[in-house]
Amino acid sequence: MKGLLICGGLGTRLRPLTEVTHKSLLPVYDKPLIMYPLDVLVQAGIKEIMIITAPEQAGKFMQFLGSGERFDCEFSFRIQERPGGIAQVLGMAEAFAAGDSICAVLGDNVFLDDLSEPIKNFKNGGHMFLTEVPDPERFGVVEMKDSNVMSVEEKPKEPKSNLIGVGCYIYDNRCFEVVRNLEPSYRGELEITDVNKWYLKQGELSATILQDKWIDAGTFDSLLEASNAIKEAKEERVKQGATNAMKQANKQPEVLTN
Ligand code: G1P
Repeated sequence: MKGLLICGGLGTRLRPLTEVTHKSLLPVYDKPLIMYPLDVLVQAGIKEIMIITAPEQAGKFMQFLGSGERFDCEFSFRIQERPGGIAQVLGMAEAFAAGDSICAVLGDNVFLDDLSEPIKNFKNGGHMFLTEVPDPERFGVVEMKDSNVMSVEEKPKEPKSNLIGVGCYIYDNRCFEVVRNLEPSYRGELEITDVNKWYLKQGELSATILQDKWIDAGTFDSLLEASNAIKEAKEERVKQGATNAMKQANKQPEVLTN
């Protein structure tokens, strides 16, 4: 399986921060944002990863990420001249995928779940990751019944559920033919939801519901939320580590009194 990091977009909602650098290179707690979606692919054991980004910032991505050696991966870079939708970017990775399946992650999404098992277990078809949100009409809405996907709709006025598709998608190699046959939507983009609809029609669209936080770090508030969530998760891990170490040493936590 190949990996794809989608880092397009102008990040207009984050100006003036995005006048300095690309949204995906902004700090989220102690790392540039891109490290989190990259980690999804690296954790799943994917070795060949393509990063697709806008021409203005491509050099900064190459400078920061390098060849991929320090992640034990091999990176390839491609430039998207102008925004055209997630599915358009997916289509740009066809030659890179070279017949393999692909896991595509949006470069501004932070996942607190570990997604490596569903990625490693993928066989064929299409696979989405879902989470519940209070404002599903802003996203690709997914209706589920008994763990089966029943429908997928992009930004419906009357959402059938609160479950939405987040920015991680896994497809077999047929996705590239699907993209080649897509028509632009009302917003002039090739929609990833239309790719998902194709797999649903074949009866081959499955989904994993996230258990932990997902953050699309595209606004000031969500960027801050991402930093705070990562900080909390790290502190929790340290606490957990200390408790485990104490358990192993068969000690009780020290009770502090004044
Ligand atoms: C895109 C997709 C949508 C998905 C969302 C996740 O929306 O079209 O289906 O739920 O990403 O962030 P956009 O950010 O292009 O509005």
